Amino acid sequence: LTDSYTLNNGVKIPGIGFGTWQSADGDEAYQAVLDALKSGYRHIDTAAIYGNESSVGRAIADSKIDRQDLFVTSKLWNNVRGYDETLAALDESLNKLGLEYLDLYLIHWPNPIDYRANWAEMNAETWRAMEEAYRSGKVRAIGISNFQVQHLEALLKTAEIKPMVNQLFINPSDLESSIVELNQQHEILTEAYSPLGTGRLLATPAILNLADRLGKSPAQIAIRWSLQHGFLPLPKSTHRKYIEQNTQVFDFELSNADMSTLDALNGTIGTHIDPDTTDF
Ligand code: A2P
Repeated sequence: LTDSYTLNNGVKIPGIGFGTWQSADGDEAYQAVLDALKSGYRHIDTAAIYGNESSVGRAIADSKIDRQDLFVTSKLWNNVRGYDETLAALDESLNKLGLEYLDLYLIHWPNPIDYRANWAEMNAETWRAMEEAYRSGKVRAIGISNFQVQHLEALLKTAEIKPMVNQLFINPSDLESSIVELNQQHEILTEAYSPLGTGRLLATPAILNLADRLGKSPAQIAIRWSLQHGFLPLPKSTHRKYIEQNTQVFDFELSNADMSTLDALNGTIGTHIDPDTTDF
């Protein structure tokens, strides 16, 4: 197990990212990102819809870390589809972040409610712009998020450049096996957002038992589970102690039996998100 992955275009990506979903704009997101960078994270995951790109950008600038040592991801929101619109939205994210390029830009959801009738066609057009952004060097890698099997298969029909990443809601209660397998077939890295099941997994007896036995915290067990599956976890926290703790996952190992115990939690806390029934 290494602490970084290599994307299908050769770009390296730090193996744990810092999630900023639900970190409020202003001091909260600023402080959380600054703490994360001080704790050693070099990979920050934000999105236009999180509304915190300016604060994230401010923390990045104030950290004084060299740009080339950082990996920054943002995402195109659902109200934007189409070629010109996508390129304009990317510029807006870059402006808010105060960056000249992104390391990774993702289509946030496959089938927003406004485009549910023609999502395949709109994604194809939007992907053309993502490819243009990649070719022009404004982004070092491009990808998708929340794409299920049918969405990825549709995209691959017209894509000239395969996505490098598919970011999904994955945790021991939500294995997402079919899309994970399809990602693997196409050498698309699976990123796991909410790897702690938005925190709800942490009180699960199976995880508490393992944590107890291995002398780690429940969050560390869930994060390690992600890594051992070959996923890139994106844990989120606003507490310095947790932020630090969530990177200390390289000094222990889950056995095959432990992994099976965790895999058996699939479905137990009902965290699956179905893009076809989301209302945005
Ligand atoms: P907080 O943000 O208040 O620090 P996920 O990454 O699955 O979305 O989970 C995020 C939730 O889990 C947040 O509520 C966060 O709390 C909490 N959390 C993150 N890391 C830890 C940890 N190491 N121990 C306990 N709770 C944590």
